[in-house]
Amino acid sequence: CSAPSDLMEVARLAAAEVPEVSADEAALRHLLRKRKDTSRAYFDELAGRFGKDYVPGRSWKALAEALIKVLNYKIVADLGAGEGTLAQLLAQRAEKVIAVDLSPKMVEFGQSLATQNGLENLEYRIGDIEDPPIENGSLDLAILSQALHHAEHPQKALDAAFRILKPGGRLIVLDLLQHHFDEARELYADRWLGFSESDLASMLEKSGFLQIETVVADRETAEPRFQTLLGIGVRE
Ligand SMILES: C[S@@+](CC[C@H](N)C(=O)[O-])C[C@H]1O[C@@H](n2cnc3c(N)ncnc32)[C@H](O)[C@@H]1O
Repeated sequence: CSAPSDLMEVARLAAAEVPEVSADEAALRHLLRKRKDTSRAYFDELAGRFGKDYVPGRSWKALAEALIKVLNYKIVADLGAGEGTLAQLLAQRAEKVIAVDLSPKMVEFGQSLATQNGLENLEYRIGDIEDPPIENGSLDLAILSQALHHAEHPQKALDAAFRILKPGGRLIVLDLLQHHFDEARELYADRWLGFSESDLASMLEKSGFLQIETVVADRETAEPRFQTLLGIGVRE
């Protein structure tokens, strides 16, 4: 039916004959321009501080959720998964996620959370990251998030991660950069006080990983100012 568009045309022609209409349109254009100027001035002021300042609605969780939507790993393991915060995110995209943890309570809690959230592709297994209950050569991606410094023998954990990856598979290590906060042993049951970038890189190399990258990914502002070490390696 063309009635609404005909009516619009009549209204437009009538409005063209009324001088107030063009004055109103000019005022509206002026208002919109001013609004844009205000917004531009606000963000000009923030340039260079945006990364650190509060931005309503922005969170690392939300950014992780967004990035995970474009991940295309099929079979993934979260080693030393705890309750599986990461595993639960990864399970939204991956075909299968295996979360391994030494603590039966963590595994029980994580598994029931996965069931509640309807994540049938997320399976928790009790096991040691030094010898995970995962078939050799079966993973596209393995993650050790804040778990390596709990291992009695970190090198063994990296060797095991290498073994269970497929050729072309990738390992991501998130851990603490080497620190001197000895109380972490007591407070957080930490076995090692983090790792230096070069220690992690040489352990990865010793396990057989290639394309190794390490970077300090974050720094906490509160004492004892823990820093997060990120390491990546590929089993070629
Ligand atoms: C600090 S939490 C990290 C949990 C999780 N990956 C995260 O990033 O939130 C460390 C976890 O590693 C587990 N863990 C410690 N030693 C382990 C080992 N040798 N094998 C498997 N899991 C271990 C603990 O039970 C705990 O759940």
